[in-house]
Amino acid sequence: MNLNDNIKKILVTQEQIEKRCIELAKELDKDYCDKKPLILSLLKGSMPFTVELTKYMTIPLEYDYMRASSYHGGTVSCGNVAVSIMPSTNLQGRNILIIEDIIDTGTTLSTVVKILEELHPASIEIATLLDKPSRRIVADIKPKYVGFVIPDEFVVGFGLDYDELYRQLPYVGVLKEEVYKK
Ligand code: XMP
Ligand code: MG
Repeated sequence: MNLNDNIKKILVTQEQIEKRCIELAKELDKDYCDKKPLILSLLKGSMPFTVELTKYMTIPLEYDYMRASSYHGGTVSCGNVAVSIMPSTNLQGRNILIIEDIIDTGTTLSTVVKILEELHPASIEIATLLDKPSRRIVADIKPKYVGFVIPDEFVVGFGLDYDELYRQLPYVGVLKEEVYKK
């Protein structure tokens, strides 16, 4: 079985992602010069974007990870979002750049930002590969760095999954309808 055969259309190509990441990395190098940002990748979906974006950055930076998902018995919960992995870095005084795969309603990030704010970082900004602003219900979530604004379609690839599959695809695409019906 070839996962590519289940894709109806490609929304963002591998080349477009690479080009945009180079642009964003330049911007981040400038904005975070001498700040040693903590690149906080939200697992699992942000892994490919974290790698693609930061490989073009040249300033000193550190990585850490956090996992937040819709509530189903995680360790820290707020609203209906559960945080099951917290960063191990001391966040006090750090300049945090949260890396997200997609912002939809904004609920996940709003919870994440609230939890991080309590740990007294110097700053928190958001970089997201994809933004679906038409779906936003949490108005105060405004990503400073956005890869691509996309319409309200369920997408997979470049970290995004359907039932945990398709994350490894090098592009962002829309699944064929029959795949959902299986
Ligand atoms: P909220 O609504 O909290 O959602 O901003 C963010 C999370 O929802 C998932 N999500 C998607 N996952 N394709 C996916 O594979 C999509 O089109 C999509 N839209 C939302 C995703 O896990 C994200 O972190
Ligand atoms: Mg996610």
